[in-house]
Amino acid sequence: MKKKIFALAAASLMAVSLAGCSSNSGETSAATEAATEAAGAEEAAPAEEAEAAPAEEVANKDKPLVWFNRQPSNSSTGELDMAALSFNEDTYYVGFNANQGAELQGQMIRDYIEANIDTIDRNGDGIIGYVLAIGDIGHNDSIARTRGVRSALGTAVDNNGNVNSDPIGTNTDGSATAVQDGTIEVNGKTYTIRELASQEMKNSAGATWDAATAGNAINTWSASFGDQIDVIASNNDGMGMSMFNAWSKDNKVPTFGYDANADAVAAIAEGYGGTISQHADVQAYLTLRVLRNALDGVDVDTGIGTADEAGNVLSSDVYEYNADERSYYALNVAVTADNYQEFTDSTKVYEPVSNQLDAAEHPTKKVWLDIYNAADNFLSSTYQPLLQNYDDLLNLEVEYIGGDGQTESNITNRLGNPSQYDAFAINMVKTDNAASYTALLSQ
Ligand code: BGC
Ligand code: CA
Repeated sequence: MKKKIFALAAASLMAVSLAGCSSNSGETSAATEAATEAAGAEEAAPAEEAEAAPAEEVANKDKPLVWFNRQPSNSSTGELDMAALSFNEDTYYVGFNANQGAELQGQMIRDYIEANIDTIDRNGDGIIGYVLAIGDIGHNDSIARTRGVRSALGTAVDNNGNVNSDPIGTNTDGSATAVQDGTIEVNGKTYTIRELASQEMKNSAGATWDAATAGNAINTWSASFGDQIDVIASNNDGMGMSMFNAWSKDNKVPTFGYDANADAVAAIAEGYGGTISQHADVQAYLTLRVLRNALDGVDVDTGIGTADEAGNVLSSDVYEYNADERSYYALNVAVTADNYQEFTDSTKVYEPVSNQLDAAEHPTKKVWLDIYNAADNFLSSTYQPLLQNYDDLLNLEVEYIGGDGQTESNITNRLGNPSQYDAFAINMVKTDNAASYTALLSQ
């Protein structure tokens, strides 16, 4: 085999040098032919030639598949859907460590309260009041963030061994049962922390994480108990920025979000409290990289934990892999007034994995990829632009499909001919719905 590769290399070298001497294309192709013949003469190996012929068409059910951003799981219990996660041997999930990020978000808010204790209690009643925008009560990541905030602020209540993550509606009198009043002691003085209100931000059409709904909610809340609101916490920046622009910026109430979208990072200079980077630059890379590796038939760790030939590699402080869950999780970083300057460009590729793959070694392949909701702030303003930067570097021709965020069929209807693609990247509307996709690939 080695010998043959050498022969071919020599032949193409010869072709190049012959081509260099020629002045028109007719001569070039003659030269190439001569070189090819020379290579054939060197070693006649019909068996090996046959082996190099195009492989048999791969069945759709055996093509590489990556779930991303919404992990196949039961939306009420959070239990992972292992059938979907191990659909075939080249199936993975790419997301981020939700618990680590949620803890960071809660800690960031608590740190802010402690550092600003002298001014934070706007009406001076000894109660630090916050409101919480919940993205999707059936989404693992949203649930984790609600739990993270409540745990850090002491407002968490246990529910069968887990922190209760239910929305409470309005709780200005502290009587809600899904949360409790927390306390915080700073400089020898004890303050109460109260979740004044929380709500799932779902619009009437059913879209979750809905920014406009969050803007309306803060208008309603502030109209009836505005002077009690000292802090705003949001499961993401899309909703957070909507609340910031509608009310909190003018009233100098810090809003804390999640995602580190560019507009939210920029708003830190104007009083937005902070956000969490879920390292979308690492996630978008991993999403396409696991497909690339499967298509190349190389170890899945290539260009991830093990440097590829172009020098792409990730260090263990930015991601982790859980083999049992077949899942890659990026690690989160808090973005606050102290460090936001480093995060202003949210669509920049991550430098350690920014090297172009060689097109001869990694020929162009076609990928079908959907974004569950084309209007989702994070996915459209941060994640998709990153994917579009990496697809070029990885020689993947990606077809991007944008869903309506409400129905799975709006997306699955556009996967009419999976045979046209070499691999699939799927972002579901509902985490329970993996089978709607795998059924199409199994046909
Ligand atoms: C992001 C949200 C986004 C959601 C979509 C989450 O990871 O933080 O902003 O709406 O993904 O599934
Ligand atoms: Ca107060």
